[in-house]
Amino acid sequence: MLFQILFQKITLVLGFVALGGSIANAAGTSCSKYIVESAGDELSFNNYLFQDFRSLSGSSAGPKAPGTNDGVVIAAYEAATSSPKVPTTAMKSYFQGIPRTWLVSSWNRMNSPVPMQNQPANAFIDYDPTTPYSQDTMLSITTSRGTNGIQTAGELQSVFSLNYGSIRFQSRVTGAPGACAGMFLYKDDTHESDFEFLTRDGSSYVHMTNQPGNENGIPVPGATTNLSLIYPYSEWTNYRLDWSPGMTRYFVNGEIVANKTVNVSPLPMYWMMNMWSDGTSWPGVMAVGNSARLDIRWLQIVYNNTNTLPADGNVICVVE
Ligand SMILES: *[C@@H]1O[C@H](CO)[C@@H](O)[C@H](O)[C@H]1NC(C)=O
Ligand SMILES: *[C@@H]1O[C@H](CO)[C@@H](O)[C@H](O)[C@H]1NC(C)=O
Ligand SMILES: *[C@@H]1O[C@H](CO)[C@@H](O)[C@H](O)[C@H]1NC(C)=O
Repeated sequence: MLFQILFQKITLVLGFVALGGSIANAAGTSCSKYIVESAGDELSFNNYLFQDFRSLSGSSAGPKAPGTNDGVVIAAYEAATSSPKVPTTAMKSYFQGIPRTWLVSSWNRMNSPVPMQNQPANAFIDYDPTTPYSQDTMLSITTSRGTNGIQTAGELQSVFSLNYGSIRFQSRVTGAPGACAGMFLYKDDTHESDFEFLTRDGSSYVHMTNQPGNENGIPVPGATTNLSLIYPYSEWTNYRLDWSPGMTRYFVNGEIVANKTVNVSPLPMYWMMNMWSDGTSWPGVMAVGNSARLDIRWLQIVYNNTNTLPADGNVICVVE
């Protein structure tokens, strides 16, 4: 007997799943698997998530005057409680229309050189503070050093773990020296792959590391790269991290800038986004009264996890 299976191939451009995919198979598409081309290797994944934070202003609240804090706190949505800030209809329907995606950190590190407290209110949807009366929105995570000396920080962790994946995002980092912005995969300190931006680096470098980058104070060869950026990270830039068995590849604006084969986690990790400082040598010390922020316009995650199997069907979606 002869079986003929016809595969349909669809190319997903950014925004294809306009209102965010579910964390299982993308809502609104019939993709049965997702293909990512990674430096000539074809990687296949079962799950797709796209979150677009750019156009959540709606008509009821925006645009805002310069300096207006219109942050809509992610935790309020994720916990399904009322927000301390009045959300626009667009923001509300966006977050109510998708499955819960983020756990919002509230752990503290009070015994560090600068005591640090993660505060859920430090992760929010905001209007672009650099453009007066802008309708442009974004996910923002801030860190500030208060007059009490304490550093408040913000952190989001994906509710799902990834068992390999391709993660892409557009971000910028601005603010005072003494903070670290992290966009990274994490299980524990020896299963972690990072993009990190240090505000003390003056917008010129991105650090890409499969942790640990140092062992007993000695650098682990090939574990970390300090890349000089052509465009400053204070400008919107596209980053991508492809994690497959035995390999992480880091991309900036579509170019592969690092291939790493050391310290590649074989274990599932979460996707994390944070903005922090504890006054140690890596982030440095932020002066009292200062702050810094990580802004994210969109996030696209193509991934496997240990809980979901490939969907039935024969539609292969190629994620560019
Ligand atoms: C993802 O899982 C599928 C099986 O469900 C497997 O065929 C595929 O190779 C996995 N992808 C990666 C990058 O490991
Ligand atoms: C990254 O490299 C630049 C240029 O060599 C250097 O000035 C900077 O201190 C480095 N950053 C770190 C954290 O090592
Ligand atoms: C990464 O690996 C790919 C595939 O082998 C190669 O084409 C590319 O030049 C490498 N890039 C870097 C920065 O090592």
